Amino acid sequence: MTNISLAERRFLLYSVLTLALSLAAGTAAAKVSGVCGNCHTMHNSQDGAAVAHSGDGAGWAADGSFNAGAASESPIGYLLISDCVGCHSATSDQTIVQLGENRIPIVMNTAQYPTKPLAGGNFYQVSRGETYDGYGHNVYGISEIDGTLTSAPGNNRCGNAESCHNTLAVAPAGGNDYRGGCQGCHYSVYHHKDSTPYLADNTPYRFLTSHDERFGAWVEGVEHASWEHPDDTTLTEHNFYKGVDRNPNDGAESLELKQSNSISSYCAGCHNLFHSNAGIGINTWLRHPTDIALPEDGEYAQYNPVTAYEVQSPVAWVNPATPQRDEAIVMCLSCHRVHGSEHPDILRWDYSQIIAGEANEDGCFVCHTTKD
Ligand code: HEC
Ligand code: HEC
Ligand code: HEC
Ligand code: HEC
Ligand code: HEC
Ligand code: HEC
Repeated sequence: MTNISLAERRFLLYSVLTLALSLAAGTAAAKVSGVCGNCHTMHNSQDGAAVAHSGDGAGWAADGSFNAGAASESPIGYLLISDCVGCHSATSDQTIVQLGENRIPIVMNTAQYPTKPLAGGNFYQVSRGETYDGYGHNVYGISEIDGTLTSAPGNNRCGNAESCHNTLAVAPAGGNDYRGGCQGCHYSVYHHKDSTPYLADNTPYRFLTSHDERFGAWVEGVEHASWEHPDDTTLTEHNFYKGVDRNPNDGAESLELKQSNSISSYCAGCHNLFHSNAGIGINTWLRHPTDIALPEDGEYAQYNPVTAYEVQSPVAWVNPATPQRDEAIVMCLSCHRVHGSEHPDILRWDYSQIIAGEANEDGCFVCHTTKD
């Protein structure tokens, strides 16, 4: 380092700066990196013992070993050490497992609801049996079929018993395109790519695609590099979701994902009626509106998500890359998590504590600022 030229120094400084900037941006592509052996096993054998594990309790331990569950006798796709549920589970409280360069986002902690859940929440509660069915999506490998709901509320599209529109808790089969479970929602996964075959340079937000992916049905968004892990999330560094300001004249049908690429249209893939346009624009709604702009006047004037974004009641944006106050959009995830939460109806907060007239700035009051 003693004989370094000015040009080299400038280049070094530039590299450090661009690295710092790209880290500061806090967003990243989905591509995995790091040692193959962390995730793949060539012979399902290490020191004579089976490597692949799956089933109840399988997950990453605090020391970085993968264990519990049962040694897998049946093949796992792509010579992986576990299936979707297993590799995204932890037996500790951690929600990001760091293995060298690999960072594994955890959506299921097998021992407790984690202290620092990621953006989608966590499946822990819904894994605890029927009493907790309402705390999350009942997903194959984590829970049994929901004891109360025989279909996704708002589904008026698909009647087939194995369909993901009716349950996500059955094994891959013909009726769910041999997906089901996690892949009912993360329909196609691309861990080694930043794009899909259909989208040259654009990763769908969190692998959220559908069986109409080739016609453009996927979710747009800007991904926070740490999946909104509470230690790394700030007012400016978080997920940016896609929303649309719906035209009331579109008719009563729900706006399709391939037209809008919005996160709420995505939920509507299975909860179609909950996203219907009926009443939008005439101020008498059957259901709380989604995919409409957050007004800038009245009680909403006090919530400016550009400068004071609230992760507890977030909004989507017409253009997630350039958020503008007049383009902030109410979405399904303004009130819900998706995987699971600590509250019934997968809500982001305890609805029973949101009481009109009482001093409280949480939940509904983030937008309805004058109702507390
Ligand atoms: C952090 C985990 C992880 C690491 C590290 C990793 N992979 Fe993978 N790999 C996956 C997952 C998950 C899949 C299957 C799902 C998919 O394709 O998205 C996969 C799929 C594959 C596939 C089949 C699909 C395809 O895209 O061609 C190949 C081949 C592959 N990996 C090779 C490798 C090699 C070689 C390495 C090391 C250089 C490696 N992987 C490192 C997680 C990993
Ligand atoms: C062997 C480990 C492993 C398996 C098996 C695995 N994943 Fe992953 N997955 C990872 C890692 C590591 C990442 C983080 C990649 C990164 O750094 O963005 C990831 C990321 C993801 C993400 C978030 C993508 C993003 O934009 O950050 C989703 C969604 C996901 N996986 C779903 C699945 C599904 C569904 C399956 C089963 C088909 C699966 N994974 C199987 C290791 C795995
Ligand atoms: C692939 C289909 C599918 C998608 C996409 C989907 N859901 Fe669901 N959802 C279901 C099914 C099936 C049920 C009923 C069974 C259950 O609870 O798992 C359900 C139930 C729910 C429940 C009630 C939970 C309960 O048990 O009382 C909520 C809340 C919910 N979904 C919200 C969402 C939100 C928000 C999104 C978008 C981020 C979404 N869903 C996307 C299929 C889906
Ligand atoms: C009902 C649809 C649905 C199901 C079922 C589902 N996911 Fe997700 N997942 C999502 C959505 C939507 C997001 C984006 C959440 C956000 O950014 O707020 C997401 C985000 C993720 C992430 C990124 C971490 C985070 O919390 O944002 C991972 C990893 C992931 N999912 C893995 C899985 C795995 C593994 C399963 C099965 C055990 C699964 N998902 C089941 C819809 C689903
Ligand atoms: C303004 C907050 C808010 C928004 C936005 C919202 N929900 Fe809800 N959702 C709730 C609350 C609160 C409940 C609990 C039941 C109730 O009070 O209606 C609920 C309940 C549900 C249920 C369970 C219904 C049942 O029969 O058990 C589903 C499914 C659901 N929401 C899906 C969605 C979907 C899909 C979207 C977007 C199209 C959405 N929600 C947007 C607040 C919201
Ligand atoms: C992200 C912001 C946001 C959150 C969070 C939110 N709302 Fe709303 N809410 C709106 C917007 C925007 C409207 C429509 C305003 C308009 O155009 O007049 C609305 C409309 C309503 C209306 C109908 C008002 C009317 O004039 O007809 C009710 C009732 C309501 N919300 C209750 C709730 C409850 C209860 C919660 C919590 C469970 C909640 N909202 C959470 C933004 C939000």
